[in-house]
Amino acid sequence: MNADINNIVILTGAGISAESGLATFRGPDGLWEGHRVEDVCTPEALARNPVLVHRFYDERRARLAEVAPNPAHQALAALDAAWGGDLLIVTQNVDDLHERAGAQRLLHMHGELQSALCAACGKAEAWTAPLPPASVCTGCGQPRLRPDIVFFGEMPYDMERIDAALCRADLFVSIGTSGAVYPAAGFVQTARHAGARTLELNLDPSAGSAYFEETRLGPASELVPEMVRELLG
Ligand code: OAD
Repeated sequence: MNADINNIVILTGAGISAESGLATFRGPDGLWEGHRVEDVCTPEALARNPVLVHRFYDERRARLAEVAPNPAHQALAALDAAWGGDLLIVTQNVDDLHERAGAQRLLHMHGELQSALCAACGKAEAWTAPLPPASVCTGCGQPRLRPDIVFFGEMPYDMERIDAALCRADLFVSIGTSGAVYPAAGFVQTARHAGARTLELNLDPSAGSAYFEETRLGPASELVPEMVRELLG
């Protein structure tokens, strides 16, 4: 599979962390840890009920201490370390399992649980403790810190860099994402237009499966190490 491949872009979603014990967003009941996404993941929800939204992300942040990277995160980190060409892992996940596995060439397009964002000045700071509403920003001193999560209706991070990488990609791989949320769901089409090969690894066919040249179905903990072995030859 690695003939003629130099530049790789890998998109990951909640499915890559499922086998580490973190819930995906669109389970059979359509709830995320018992909440409708629109009750905890929109600017309106934050304005309406900051206590609920902050507590929800506090619980998700605390949960990180109970989970560990699985073989899929580890295989991507090994690929990152060994791959001589360009490589970019773009994750929609707000957990830190890719970096704990050792991945370096990584972007969190939907934000991070272990970061707090000042709604007044835009400064982001590392945050591992609970984050009560009205916590004070160390930059501007305003009591406006919120979870550094990209809510629905907000612009994902690093889009220019991601777009540039997609336009140069020889291979685009999507792992463990339902393809339900744009702009990430459209990356496959950008990569195809640029002439990249496209591969999807997922437990079930996703909403965007038809756009991929190849879809492999199964658990990420098996499919990702297999793909990395193929790439590293
Ligand atoms: P979803 O919950 O929508 O989709 C998870 C996908 O992972 C599904 O297609 C599952 O079939 C697949 N899956 C589950 N277990 C798997 C496993 N062991 N191996 C491989 N695949 C598995 O999660 P995302 O697509 O990541 O946004 O959701 C996208 C965005 O929607 C999230 O980033 C979040 C949410 O609203 C924000 O928080 C801004």
